[in-house]
Amino acid sequence: MRVIGILGSAREDGSTHYLMEEMMKEPQSKGAETKIYNLAKMNIGCCFGCQVCRKTGSCVRKDDMFTLYDALKAADAIIIGTPIYMGEMTGQLKTFIDRCFALKDAESKPLIPAGKKLAIVITQGAPMPEHYAKTSERIEYIFKNYGCVPVGKITAVSVHNTDELLKDHDVLEKARELGKQLI
Ligand SMILES: Cc1cc2nc3c(=O)[nH]c(=O)nc-3n(C[C@H](O)[C@H](O)[C@H](O)COP(=O)(O)O)c2cc1C
Repeated sequence: MRVIGILGSAREDGSTHYLMEEMMKEPQSKGAETKIYNLAKMNIGCCFGCQVCRKTGSCVRKDDMFTLYDALKAADAIIIGTPIYMGEMTGQLKTFIDRCFALKDAESKPLIPAGKKLAIVITQGAPMPEHYAKTSERIEYIFKNYGCVPVGKITAVSVHNTDELLKDHDVLEKARELGKQLI
């Protein structure tokens, strides 16, 4: 079993990465292969909007997104994580999502197998969990259209660094519990 994390924060010592690692502990203990892809460290350009992918089944931009196309196809479970930047998901996560356009055929049928489990992690400085609820709803909606099955989401609030996150025992526990749903 393979669990992949798509990390929308550049900070590998940040809260989003930390929560993803917590979620992966239970799958790892059951023998799952896990990997977190830090989008900021990858060469992933924007979607050109040419729509050639819908005719040929392949994106014209031959960059690191192809690593992720393969990883998405092979994964049994996917964690998508992002901090809120200026009221939304980060730019690198949005670019990744735009490039997922190439994972559908001319009839908008997904080119990845259905049934992959999906969990979402949001971290934010603001204290109100519902403040940016639309962000996780949008991510969930998009990946449901690729046949993914949402198993849950967590939102860490009032966090600006991992020191603050580590004081929030409740959200850490929720992350570990959500990790169990990925198996
Ligand atoms: C450029 C930037 C913009 C941010 N914008 C928001 C925002 O609009 N709302 C909010 O609640 N937090 C905002 N934050 C705070 C981050 O969402 C929060 O600290 C998050 O936990 C950081 O995640 P990380 O540690 O994984 O990088 C912003 C942080 C940065 C660096």
